[in-house]
Order: sequence, then C-alpha cells, then structure tokens
Amino acid sequence: MKWSQILFLVLVITGVTLAQSDIDAKVDQLLNEMTVAEKVGQMTQIAIDFISNAGEAQGQDALQLDPARMELVIQKYHVGSILNVGTHAHSVAKWHEIITAIQDMALQKTRLRIPVIYGIDAVHGANYTRDATLFPQAISMAATWNPELLKKTAEITALETRASGIPWNFNPVLDSGRQPLWPRLWETFGEDAYLASILGVAYVKGLEGDSNDISAPDKVAACLKHYIGYGTPVTGKDRTPAWIPDHYLRQYHLPPYAAAIAAGAHTLMPNSGDVNGVPVHASHYLLTELLRGELGFEGVVISDWADITNLHTRHRVAANNKEAVRLAVMAGVDMSMVPTDLSFPDALIELVQEGSVPMERIDEAVRRILTLKYRLGLFERPYPDKSLQAQFASPAAAAVNLQAAREAMILLKNDNRTLPLRKSLKVLVTGPNAERLSPLNSGWTITWQGNREELYPKDKWTVRKAIEAKIGKANVAYVQGATVDRETGIAAAVKAAKKADVVVACLGEDAYCETPGNITDLTLPEAQLNLVKALQATGKPVVLVLIEGRPRIIRSIVEDSRAIVLAFLPGLEGGRAIADVLFGDANPGGKLPVTYPRHPNDLVLYDHVLAENTGGTSRYHPQWPFGFGLSYTTFAYSDLRLDKQNVPRGETVTAQITVKNTGQMAGKETVQLYLSDVVASITPPNRRLQGFEKIDLAPGESKTVSFTLGEAAMSFVGLDGKPVVEPGQFKVSVGHLQQTFEVK
Ligand code: BGC
Repeated sequence: MKWSQILFLVLVITGVTLAQSDIDAKVDQLLNEMTVAEKVGQMTQIAIDFISNAGEAQGQDALQLDPARMELVIQKYHVGSILNVGTHAHSVAKWHEIITAIQDMALQKTRLRIPVIYGIDAVHGANYTRDATLFPQAISMAATWNPELLKKTAEITALETRASGIPWNFNPVLDSGRQPLWPRLWETFGEDAYLASILGVAYVKGLEGDSNDISAPDKVAACLKHYIGYGTPVTGKDRTPAWIPDHYLRQYHLPPYAAAIAAGAHTLMPNSGDVNGVPVHASHYLLTELLRGELGFEGVVISDWADITNLHTRHRVAANNKEAVRLAVMAGVDMSMVPTDLSFPDALIELVQEGSVPMERIDEAVRRILTLKYRLGLFERPYPDKSLQAQFASPAAAAVNLQAAREAMILLKNDNRTLPLRKSLKVLVTGPNAERLSPLNSGWTITWQGNREELYPKDKWTVRKAIEAKIGKANVAYVQGATVDRETGIAAAVKAAKKADVVVACLGEDAYCETPGNITDLTLPEAQLNLVKALQATGKPVVLVLIEGRPRIIRSIVEDSRAIVLAFLPGLEGGRAIADVLFGDANPGGKLPVTYPRHPNDLVLYDHVLAENTGGTSRYHPQWPFGFGLSYTTFAYSDLRLDKQNVPRGETVTAQITVKNTGQMAGKETVQLYLSDVVASITPPNRRLQGFEKIDLAPGESKTVSFTLGEAAMSFVGLDGKPVVEPGQFKVSVGHLQQTFEVK
C-alpha cells in the first residue's frame, strides 16, 4: 500500500471515529441535563392523528395541526417522535409545512431544543407523498431477483422521502413470507431467507448509503421489520401466533435480519404477534439476548403500532398498561409507537420513580435515540431541505420504475407461443383489475389500505389504457365481467369475446393491507373463475394476468388458459409493463420468490423436509415451484462442474455452469443454485437456495456463471441453535443438472 493510501485510510478512520466520539460527547452532555420526563418523552412516538384534525381532513392537503395538542405533546410531554400521514398523501409543500411547524415547536418552545424525528412507512417509494415514484411492492421486486435494481429503487425512495422532510422509513420488511394466506406476504421478499437476505441488504444500502452515512441529505434511516417470526402465523391471519422452534427460527427467519444488521441498518421494529406464546414486544430473549447480545445490533428498537398496550389488551401477558410498559421496556423496546394517547410516558415515569425500571435502561434507550438523531444530522439540519424537490419524481426515477415493473413480470405459462401477441389483433380486455390502478399498487399507497381509486394519479395507466395506447383504441374492447368477488356481466364479456381474436383477463385481488386483508380461502373467488371458464368456453385464446398480493389458487382455469402472466403488485408503471410484456416490447424474466400452490390444503414450501421420493412420488405439488418463470426465449444449461469432489471441512467448493440463449430474442435469466445435504442429524430440507445470478444473454450467446459455496451454505442450525457442517454427501443442482461432493 502506498503512503498516500495509508494516509487517506487514517484520515477516513479517524474522521469517522472523531465524528462518532463527537456524537457520544454531545449525547452524554444532553443526557446529563435531561429530566426523567424529558428522557421518557424521547422514548415516545405519537401519531399525527393525535395532534391534528387528521380524522376529518378529507380534502387534498386539508390536514391542520392542532396547536393545543401540539403543545401538550411536544412542549409538555417532550415527545421526541411523530409518525403517520392522516387520511391520505400530502404534497411535498404540505409535508414541509407540517414538519416545519413540528420542528419550530421542538426547537423554539422546549428547554433542550431537541429536534423531533418524523417516521413514515415509505414501503414502495414515498407512498404518502403526492405524485411520488411508486415502485413495485416488495414481492414484485423479489420476483426480479435483481439486488442492484432494488437498491436503485431504495435510493430513489430515500431521496423522495427526505425531499418530503422525513428522515426515517419503516422499511424493509424482512419477514420470511412462509404462509401464503398471510395478508402481508406481498410486503416481504418471499419465502426464502437467502434471497431475502441479499435483497434486504441491497435495500438497506439503498436507503442508508454504502457507508450508512445517513447524514447525507438524500438518505434516510432504515427500519428492519417485523423482527421476528411474523411471516408464519399458524392460522394465516395477521397478528396471530406463530409456533417456531428456536432452531427453525434461526434457520428460516433470522438470516435476513442478521445480514441487514451486519449491513449497518439503524433501527428495527418487533413483530406484533407472539412466537411460541411469548409476544415479541415482551421477549427479553429475542430483543436483548439474541438481537443485542448475539447479533450486535446497536440501533433503536421502535415498537409497532400500539403493541406495548397490546401486551395488556390483546396478548394478556400484562395485567394493566403500566405492567405492559415495564415488560416491553425491560425486554428491550427503546421507543413506543403509542400512538394516540399519552399513557406510555405517564406509566414509564411512574415506573422509574418506583424503581421498577432502572435509570440505566432509560439512559441506554435515550442514548440510542439521540445518537440516531445526531447521525441523521437532525441537530444541524432539522428542517426540510427544499433543494431536493428539484429531484423529486424525476423522469430518471420513472424509467427505473418501469424497468423494475417489467423485470417483475413472471411468465408462468405460454402454450404454443401465444405470447407475445401481435399488435394487429383485436383484444377483449376484461376482469376486475383491468381498469384500476389500486390493485396494481395495493396497500401503503396514498392511503394505508391503498384502495381509494379516486385518489390515484390520473396520468398513470391501467392495463386497459396501456393496451389501448399500444395497439389503438379501435382494436380494444373492454367489459369488466366481474368484480373481485361478484359477477357483473359475464354474458356481455362472452359476447365481446366472440368478436375478439384474443381475451386478456386481468384477475386477482382488491387493494388491502395488514389485518383487513385476512382471508379464509386462498382460492381465487368464484366470480372470477366463472368469468374465465365462460370465456374459455368460447374457444378464443384466453390469457390471464394475475394482479394479486399472494398466490391465489387458480387450478380450475389453468389448463384451458393459453398463457398466464403473474404481475403480483407492479406499482404505478405496472399497467405499462404488463402491456409491454403482452405485446413483446419487454421479454419477461421474473422468477417466483414464493411457491405458487395448486391446492388450498397443500401449502408445502420449496425447502420442505419431506423426502422427495417416498414410494416414487414427490411431495411437492405446487402449481408452479419457487424459482420458476419462463421467457420468450429459451436457455440451455450445460456443463455443471465442481472444482473438487472431496471437500475438507472449512474449505469452499466452486461450481460452474454454462448457460446459452438458444432462442430468437435477447433475455435475462436468473441462474439458481440449490444445495441439498443428503443425510444430516436432523431431517434435512429437500434443498436450499445457496446462490443466484441474473444474466443477460443475446440470442446465441453463452455465459459461464460460478458460485462459491462455503460453510454458510453447507451448514444448518442444529438443535442447540448453532450452525453446524456435518460430514457427508451434498448435492448441487442448477437447472436440471446435478453434481455431488463429499465433505470430509
Ligand atoms: C404496521 C407496521 C407499520 C406501522 C406504522 C403497523 O400497523 O404493522 O408495519 O410500520 O403500523 O404505520
């Protein structure tokens, strides 16, 4: 290394250390000056609903802050954090007005002038700011299998959130989506912890920056949620118990959190539900021993919505609210999203005065919160940065959004190359989701439920509009046929189908979010199945486009559909992207980040532990398996080779594979490597994803992809909760090819 490089390194290192020690000194000084009430105020987060007329404010930018409530919350209770939006998205200017008024009060009317930290759910872009760039939701981004692209979307999300004056984003969701009924499946990166780990890290780096310097004007603090085990409720209903043995929790749920914490994420939110009978908000084991002790997390733990009160009212592990507060704070929650009363600070002050919560625990929590505020640069720049508005919702961001939506499209079926369609065909567009933007976006869009179609931007295209733009209005007929769960004119749709060359049926779900999205049957509602069956009976080719947040079962209409495109929730450019794929202006390359089940009582995941071939029958019978997705071109896999067959423990093995585009069109292929531990001391999963790479191939082009497998890939979590590599045979599969190696 040259002297100049060494000097540079020293400068960087001391620069960083100085900055951190500076922050430590400032935090110490503040802590010395703070009263108990001021400290507890910092640990309190209140919803804007409590300090405004949010409940009644229906018009655009109609929200008005309530001065008396503001005074009560910020001046009297010293509250350090506010969240949420009110009824619906505000303009950037309105956000600036809100944040400025809040900071004015904190900085001018409180003794210590500590800025407030505002937090928001910007889960697919700055979805609570009007006209923001709204990307595909997480499940669709996972379908791209493209971490670099996801990172770009997170960078834009950070910029547009900060441009709104908000420095803290309650995202990403790193729950393993292993229960397809769960209404939050679409907020996850799917069922596999390895895929979610890689995507989660990319997203965190996009929000916080490569060096996690969140003082940068266009970065925000990430919040990993909802630690841990939220994605597998036994009943499939939101916020209901999960039963997960500790070694499975560590194997299937912990890796994305561990990876994102190692990547420097600043904050984390616990699971609202309970795991093995212990509500996570009250679990010292999960929130302190595992999270702090083992994973080394140093950031802020913010409760989820009302989840400290819920320890008393829902989980009934606390006899009253005060006991709930004690349990949560002592378990390791640093800040309470109360969110619409002041019960938390009242109770916590009493607990401190009685000695049931020690001052050290309060100081620890407040230190973390103040450190976060310093790291964000809030003390130096508490007000919105008006200069960012010039970059808000830029054409470049719209281009990234369109690319993301295109790459998210999964082609599940394409008999006789029905797709792409010729642009000269006469098309009937039908189904509940052909003419609405809300199902393309779902929850966390403009409003919490995302279902107020009338509030969506008028310049964005539905599927119908995008198809009309592509092939001309004269070539497109539209009949709705059915809503999501009600027939509205199947006969009219059939009549129109008879005059068309092809039918495009846009099916799926309405917009929903969290508990209101609970369902009791994963099967697609009958009205839609009836519509499709009637259309299929006409003999016209039927193409299905599925716009849905979870894999709704469609077994009865698969066989007679000529082609099926799964769009999941592709965001505001989704209509365009769907039309691009249907007519061949984009080649679909998305792959399933979840298993698509065939039967409602057969929800087996790809990494199940059932033997693949008991009595000659496979136990995995999905409609389409995890990782599946077709293309308009074809790829041939050949020559899978390993650099060694015998692998001493602790060494790595490298696998190489050659992939060739054997079709007529350029295309992207995600090459996936799966590893199986043939025999292990606890029943081994059938196989596990341990590597993937997305490549771009011109017709006739070949590429060789290599994967290095180390201890992390070969290990599993044993009954003692620790990863172990056991000697014996391992099977490597890529595409249809397999090789084996032996760990000695
Ligand atoms: C959700 C969280 C969200 C919070 C704040 C809760 O209901 O579970 O994901 O961050 O609300 O809006």
